[in-house]
Amino acid sequence: MDFLTSHAHDDLQQSEQYQSLKGRLHRFLLNMVEEENVNPGDWSHDQVRDYVEAKIHFFIADQRLAINRREVETLVGDMIDELLGFGPIQRLIEDEDVNDILVNGATQIYVERRGKLLKTPLRFIDDAHVLRIIHRILAPLGRRLDETSPMVDARLPDGGRVNAIVPPLALDGPSLSIRKFRKEPLRAGDLLTYGTLNEPMLKLLRAAVRARCNLLVIGASGAGKTTLLNVLSGYIPPEERIVTIEDAAELSLDHPHVVRLESRPPNLEGQGEVNMRALLRNALRMRPDRIIVGEVRGPEMLDMLQAMSTGHEGSMGTLHANSPRDALSRLEMLAGFAGYGGSEFTLRQQVAAAIELIVQVGRMQGGERRVLHIHEVTGMADNNYLMQELFRYDPTRQEFMQTELKPHNPKLQRQLQAEESQTAPFVASRYVI
Ligand SMILES: Nc1ncnc2c1ncn2[C@@H]1O[C@H](COP(=O)(O)OP(=O)(O)O)[C@@H](O)[C@H]1O
Ligand SMILES: [Mg+2]
Repeated sequence: MDFLTSHAHDDLQQSEQYQSLKGRLHRFLLNMVEEENVNPGDWSHDQVRDYVEAKIHFFIADQRLAINRREVETLVGDMIDELLGFGPIQRLIEDEDVNDILVNGATQIYVERRGKLLKTPLRFIDDAHVLRIIHRILAPLGRRLDETSPMVDARLPDGGRVNAIVPPLALDGPSLSIRKFRKEPLRAGDLLTYGTLNEPMLKLLRAAVRARCNLLVIGASGAGKTTLLNVLSGYIPPEERIVTIEDAAELSLDHPHVVRLESRPPNLEGQGEVNMRALLRNALRMRPDRIIVGEVRGPEMLDMLQAMSTGHEGSMGTLHANSPRDALSRLEMLAGFAGYGGSEFTLRQQVAAAIELIVQVGRMQGGERRVLHIHEVTGMADNNYLMQELFRYDPTRQEFMQTELKPHNPKLQRQLQAEESQTAPFVASRYVI
C-alpha cells in the first residue's frame, strides 16, 4: 500500500485516495477527541500539533499504511486545519497575498492572488465537508444555511465578506465565495502605481468630489468599484458629514465624520428586514451632507436620485453596468421595479439632472484594474441622454486617452480652476529659488 508516494506533492492533495484517507483520519481524530473528552480548541498550537502527530502515527501503524515523512507532515497540517480552522481553505485565509477564495463544490478551490485568478491544488473531501466548513464560518455570525434558506451573504468579523449558496440552488455542490478584508485598503497612490488610472484622471475625479458632483462608479463584479469609491470618498472635505449605506459593509473611508449603516436580512421567522431603501430614507433624517450607497441595486435608487438633487449633492454610489449608457438604462430599470409612476421623459430628466459623472472600472485579462471611461452627463435632448467622454482607456495601445472635451459642469470647472490657481504660486516660487 504505497499509493501516496506515487503522487507529486500538489497532486497528492487532489487525489481521491488522499481525500479518502484524510476523511477516515478525520473521523478517527474526531472519535478520539470525543472518547478522550479533550478540547483541542483550548490548547496551544504546539499541543494540538503533538496530539495530532501522535494520533496520526498510531493510525498509520494500526492500519499498516506505507506513508513517507513528508506526506505525514501534509496530513498533520491538514488535520490541524480541520480541528482548529477552516479545513483546506485555512492556509488561504492566512495567506496575505490572497484576496478572494472561491470554492465551487468539493473539488475546485480558486483564489485571486495579486489580481490573478488561479486554481489551487487544494480540495475538500466531499460536499458534506464543504458544508461543515461553511457552517463553521457562519455559526459565529448567527447566520444559517440549509435547504429552506440556501444562500447567505454576510460580513466576517474582520470586515471580509462571505457568500455561500448550496444545493438545490447551486447545481454543482455547495459554493463559497470569500472576499478577504484588506488590512490596508488601497489608496489613491496604490491605484496610480498599479496603473488603474493616471494623474490627470485622478485630478479630475478629486475635483469632482470636492465640487460636490454626484458620481456613479460602474463596472462588473470584482472590477474594483468599491475600492475606487472608497478612494474617492477620501476627498470629501473633512468638515462634511457622510452617511454610508451598504448591504454588507465594505467601505472603510479615510474620513473623520462617517456614520455607517448596514441593511439587515429577515430573521428566521421572516421578520425584521431592514432594506437599503428603508436605510436610505432614515439616512436622510440624519442630516447628512452626502450619502454614499455601497451598491445601488434596488428601489433605493429612486430615493438616491432624489437625495442627489435635493441638498445632498456630492453623493456617490456603485452600480453594476457594462457602459455609461448601460448604467443610465439600468437606473431606469431599477426605477421601474421600484414602481416609479411618472413618464419616461420625467424619469430621464431626473436621472440626467442627478447623475453628473460616471466612472467605469474594469478588470483586464491579466487581472489589472483600469478606469475604462470617465463620462460626464451633460443633460437631455429629444428624450435622450447627452453625455461626453472626458477620459478613456485604449486597450490596444494600453494607455489612457484624454479627449479634447472640457467638463461642462460649472461647479467642476470652478473647482478645477481654483485648484490650478492654488498650485500656480507654488510652482512659481520653485522657479524663484
Ligand atoms: N485598482 C485595483 N488594483 C488592484 N486590485 C484591486 C483594485 N481595485 C480593487 N482591487 C481588488 O479587487 C477585488 C475586488 O475589488 P472591489 O472594489 O470590491 O470590486 P467591486 O466593488 O467592483 O466588486 C478586491 O480584492 C480588491 O482588493
Ligand atoms: Mg463592490
